[in-house]
Amino acid sequence: MATLRSVNVGLPKDVLWRGRTVHTGIWKAPVDGPVMARRLNLDGDGQGDLGGHGGEMRAVFVYQLDSYRYWQKFLGRDDFVPGQFGENFTVDGLADDEVRVGDRYRVGAALFEVTQPRVTCYRVGIRMDDPRMPALLVQHHRPGFYFRVLSEGEVRAGDDIVKVADGPEALTVAEVDALLYLPGHSRERIEQALRIPALSPGWQGSFRAMLDEPASSSGNAGLVAASPPPAWAGFRPLRVTAVEPESSTIASLRLADPDGTALPAALPGQFLTVRLKSGLVRSYSLSGAPGGPEYRISVKQEPHGRASAYLHTGVRSGDLIDAAAPRGTFVLTPGDGPVLLVSAGVGATPVLAMLHALADQASTREVWWVQAARNGEEQPFAAEARALLARLPNAHSYVCFSHPRPQEPGDYDFAGRLSAASLHALNLPGDGDAYVCGPATFLTDVTAALAGRRVHTEIFGAAPGLTPGIEAKPTRPPHPPAGEPGTGPAVSFVRSDLTVPWPRESASLLDLAEACDVPVRWSCRVGVCHNCESGLLSGEVTYTTDPVDPPAEGNVLICSARPEGDIVLDL
Ligand SMILES: Cc1cc2nc3c(=O)[nH]c(=O)nc-3n(C[C@H](O)[C@H](O)[C@H](O)COP(=O)(O)OP(=O)(O)OC[C@H]3O[C@@H](n4cnc5c(N)ncnc54)[C@H](O)[C@@H]3O)c2cc1C
Ligand code: FES
Repeated sequence: MATLRSVNVGLPKDVLWRGRTVHTGIWKAPVDGPVMARRLNLDGDGQGDLGGHGGEMRAVFVYQLDSYRYWQKFLGRDDFVPGQFGENFTVDGLADDEVRVGDRYRVGAALFEVTQPRVTCYRVGIRMDDPRMPALLVQHHRPGFYFRVLSEGEVRAGDDIVKVADGPEALTVAEVDALLYLPGHSRERIEQALRIPALSPGWQGSFRAMLDEPASSSGNAGLVAASPPPAWAGFRPLRVTAVEPESSTIASLRLADPDGTALPAALPGQFLTVRLKSGLVRSYSLSGAPGGPEYRISVKQEPHGRASAYLHTGVRSGDLIDAAAPRGTFVLTPGDGPVLLVSAGVGATPVLAMLHALADQASTREVWWVQAARNGEEQPFAAEARALLARLPNAHSYVCFSHPRPQEPGDYDFAGRLSAASLHALNLPGDGDAYVCGPATFLTDVTAALAGRRVHTEIFGAAPGLTPGIEAKPTRPPHPPAGEPGTGPAVSFVRSDLTVPWPRESASLLDLAEACDVPVRWSCRVGVCHNCESGLLSGEVTYTTDPVDPPAEGNVLICSARPEGDIVLDL
């Protein structure tokens, strides 16, 4: 009979970690006497970061004494105390390779159901004073698991743990954890996991993404959005075959293979990264028909913008421009449901490529082209979009001019900014996929207004960071790291427009990015979660710790990689 050996609770507190303040609830202390298990928490317990922890599906975290003994031996330690792994229930029995997802247990007066394995993050490394822990827990098949509280009631140390129902499909916690994080990812087993109703919606979403992943993709689609490997490595020269105006501020450049061969097809919505003679590296969404022999990018001349000024005035047909292969996961996904293509200004570029793709497929999907521009003079692609929409049987168009000119009354449907109210008034379909591109505030407003659909967004700059549990600090624009400049290879962060020499003392590309205030995303910092997966546009890296499951081809897990020579990152 399994036994509850210790009930541990703790409220979040601030902990100093590497000069930063982390708000975390991972410190738990044993409680004498009864504790009420409620739908969201044990009484007296709390989580610091509700994005990654807590909630109904992760109400009570369970860890086994057998794993305590295992880690004491493996790590050569004898200093563990109850709650050492951040768990609420320290239990005797209930091994990760025996407990099935969906099993139900009665403990004291409460009823629990197993919903998912633990999702490891760097905080367990802080708690254990060993940064390898998030990876070790997965690699050694001892993650621990979460209970959902099916029926609230009191529990106390010493209670028997009585199994009252077996989880369907007979998949253990250790097996489900390995299916997501470790190489292999058997489709059959994933389908089996998806048949367990108790599996938390988050894990179900990850497994569905793995099943939907196109066969050509590499990497772990359960952890990050997948796309096919880049068509070539590094930069290669492309010939400019035409420079054409699209509006008063936007010009298109057509690019071809210098030897006349058709360029590899990009997916509708992907972007191209170009390196100019000056050394500036910039990305531009492909705006032309995907699958054509050439690529087309459309560049807005920004006031005082260096690359855009050069691309508008310094480039002629016949010139060569270095380009990295098309990339990006903001792509039109196949399906039958409605498609909303919503853009502002030059943000029309990737969604125009999607409109091309839909027209070329003679799609019967309901398609909405919603475009915001200042006025007709600054609106790009008006005639092209009209012609494409005319080829679609189920298309709708809605154009907003924020500052219409008197001579263009018939060219727009609405005078003013595209707002939540104007979108609601359109009676857009309530489901389907929305693809949104434009300035940051536009993305935020439109995403909120389109809640209920699958909203995909593209940002023409650095993506927002993800630093779970770290106290927010005012951010500075990216800058070289403090101290003596490094003497190693050049590391370029393209979206942040920063190139710095690698300081030999930097532990990882993530550490360097943080020292430069380049926005980054991470969670485990040791090659498990893939949150830090970033595009490696050119160059090579070596791993200080091998990733638990490799990133997609052409990508890098920056938390555990260092440059081998000059590198260019899509960060
Ligand atoms: C995935 C992706 C897709 C993109 N797609 C497109 C696209 O399809 N079309 C497109 O036009 N762009 C696109 N961009 C943006 C593009 O990469 C460039 O950022 C853009 O062209 C501006 O580059 P620039 O060198 O001309 O401007 P920069 O010289 O980098 O300047 C950027 C802006 O900052 C201002 N600025 C510069 N220095 C200062 C300073 N010291 N103080 C105050 N302000 C300053 C400039 O006035 C300018 O407005 C995309 C970006 C990404 C990441
Ligand atoms: S931060 Fe988790 S893999 Fe890099």
